[in-house]
Amino acid sequence: MKVDYSTAIPNNVNLSDDKRLQRALERWLPDYADWWMEVGPAGFQQSDIYLRTAISVERGGWAHFDYVKMPDYRWGIFMTPEEEGRTISHGDNIGDPVWQDVPGEYRKELKRLIVTQGDTEPASVEQQSLLGRTAPSLYDMRNLFQVNVEEGRHLWAMVFLLHGYFGRDGREEAHDLLTRRSAHEDHPRILDTFNEPVTNWLDFFCFAMFTDRDGKYQLAALAESAFDPLRRTCQFMLTEEAHHLFVGETGLARTIKRTAQLMKEAPGGDVRKLAGVPLDIVQKYFNYWFSSCLDLFGGEDSSNAANYFSSALKGRFNETNRKKHPNASGLDEGYRYSILDERGRELDNEIPMRRAMNAILRDDYMADCTRALDKWNKILEQEGAEQRLTLPSKRFNRNLGVYAGQCYTPDGTKRITEDEFKRRSEQEWFPTKADKSYLDSIMTPISEPGKFANWISPPARGINGQPVEFEYVKIH
Ligand SMILES: [Fe+2]
Ligand SMILES: [Fe+2]
Repeated sequence: MKVDYSTAIPNNVNLSDDKRLQRALERWLPDYADWWMEVGPAGFQQSDIYLRTAISVERGGWAHFDYVKMPDYRWGIFMTPEEEGRTISHGDNIGDPVWQDVPGEYRKELKRLIVTQGDTEPASVEQQSLLGRTAPSLYDMRNLFQVNVEEGRHLWAMVFLLHGYFGRDGREEAHDLLTRRSAHEDHPRILDTFNEPVTNWLDFFCFAMFTDRDGKYQLAALAESAFDPLRRTCQFMLTEEAHHLFVGETGLARTIKRTAQLMKEAPGGDVRKLAGVPLDIVQKYFNYWFSSCLDLFGGEDSSNAANYFSSALKGRFNETNRKKHPNASGLDEGYRYSILDERGRELDNEIPMRRAMNAILRDDYMADCTRALDKWNKILEQEGAEQRLTLPSKRFNRNLGVYAGQCYTPDGTKRITEDEFKRRSEQEWFPTKADKSYLDSIMTPISEPGKFANWISPPARGINGQPVEFEYVKIH
């Protein structure tokens, strides 16, 4: 499964055996390069960045690290190896051989899944394009650019599937992936969260923690697909994605750690006096990003999700290794949830398990986020701080699904009026204008190797065995 780097498009999918496909992708390449220069990372395209490039899809030793200028990055197409005799892991056709081509009856849905996933990849690059200018260190700047080039590669991964398996309309969709723009008035990105502004590094760390993590769960669901090329593609994307999640989770951990330290040093514990990030601002960013990301899973009660599961277009997280399968009818088990009515009374509801696939995936995601939250709170404890951070309830600030149209407090225990929700969201629950301009004021760039902005702790170790003070970016 070595990657062929001798061609314009590095790949391990024998692209040279399919001249038509190769030519189609080679025609897409310059459009991609234009897109990257237009809305990719602003200002550092000539810098030498210590980046990793995939050279194989095997576990361990799959990546090569070296200085690269981002426009010269070798974006390519990689899949994990085909598994002989692989069968469908779930749904109505469990045990049948997986599909090497797109079945006509599922063409529309599969294309939609691929386009929706594909759209998030360039969107995040666009959202993050200005962040290099305020990076708190060269280490962090390098991590941002690593995430950016890999999101670009993930776009390549989806475009390969569109070109390779969906003919002419696949090519049109691939074209449209380069024409939509994050937050554009007329042609925005498909999902709301990918049109939200990412203006500072707290946004970025929350994005890489919460939004990329949604991506991990979506990819994991697609990595159970009966459509084998999609499964194999997403499997390798997950390998790369792990680093993005690391950047988000440890970025937040380092911020929180530094805040807790500054709280001890600052007069009256006010970290603003020492250019730190106050915990109440961190909490507001959690409220905002986490709740926005919960909507990315789709409605809790969903017939689409039921169809995707029964036809095995998507699975649950870690489906292949799950012991229990909802039976063919899916009626013997239910997924339970409750909402509060306007008088605060608990109303219990049950969805047939198959219709609750989005909710099940979201629950796995929430458990993962809670694990990270516990770590951050542990840091606060170790540093002697009394405050604790929380994640808002799944009922809070939902715009779709079973909690949409109801207004709850962040802990989800109380129904409130729309007016109160609006007022308190603006004033106390979400980042205010003043919070954002305060963050802008402390996030001044640091470009000396080994130096870090005062609001963030250095990482425990560097990248690829290099020291923390390594020159991860040579700025030109
Ligand atoms: Fe991605
Ligand atoms: Fe990512």
